[in-house]
Amino acid sequence: MLQDLCLTIVVENSSSLENDHLQAQHGLSILLDLDMNLGSENMKLLWDTGATPEVMLHNLDALHIDPEEIDLICLSHGHYDHTGGLMGVLQRRRAPVPIVAHPDIFAPKLKVRPFLKYIGAPFTRDQLEAAGGIMLPCRGPVTLAPGVMTTGEVPRMEALETVEGFWTMKNDQYTPDAMPDDQSLAIHLPGKGLVVISGCAHSGIINTIRYAQRITGEERLYAVIGGFHLMGADNKRIDATARALLDLDPAVVRPGHCTGQKALSRLQDILGESCQPLAVGDSIEF
Ligand SMILES: [Fe+2]
Ligand SMILES: [Fe+2]
Repeated sequence: MLQDLCLTIVVENSSSLENDHLQAQHGLSILLDLDMNLGSENMKLLWDTGATPEVMLHNLDALHIDPEEIDLICLSHGHYDHTGGLMGVLQRRRAPVPIVAHPDIFAPKLKVRPFLKYIGAPFTRDQLEAAGGIMLPCRGPVTLAPGVMTTGEVPRMEALETVEGFWTMKNDQYTPDAMPDDQSLAIHLPGKGLVVISGCAHSGIINTIRYAQRITGEERLYAVIGGFHLMGADNKRIDATARALLDLDPAVVRPGHCTGQKALSRLQDILGESCQPLAVGDSIEF
């Protein structure tokens, strides 16, 4: 059973004074150290890999994290700012490592604003596997350890949590991308409740939390950490998100990455002290 959980923010958009030896970039990577009560052996799970091998490896080195220690890599979705550092991590390792992700992370990912641009993973599945990644494509939830799950595809229930501006290719047709590959981590922390860790939460952070509650059977939300993708969202959606979080009443809310400054300020207004922004190098212990 999971005893303790420690998160280290390896890549994030914001830097902080106490961690000015680390590099910030538009991207996200979080190392989870999970004490499963197995004596000295903790599980080390890497959630996303930032945008570039250079920043990812610089920060891993500066944080004294050996890529070889990582037991498992999970990818939240196929965008470059979550997958871009992966090849760097693999090339630093000798041993192969399992990678849990939705099969659509390899689909062409594009954005149309301010102009048409490729924003997908900078590698093919073949390149990933040749570099030592053991690809485990999964559309649904996967149990990684007792009480630790990926959500897989998140059902879209909230009317305001729409996905816009992303395009892909399906059946040889250029088409809007609903980002079915977007997933989060759902962790049941005994005695405390549910910890939800998102990548970009393109499925909507409230949709994600509600689905995490459903698949874990744990109603109490203890913490929510990661990108809430509210950059560019209107006030109506931002306020609805903040009020839904207020109802869910988590002890810890740590928005970062693609949450956006406007949404972050509003979340802090409504949620108060429990809501603090993320920065690279932050360590969060539960
Ligand atoms: Fe994204
Ligand atoms: Fe992102």
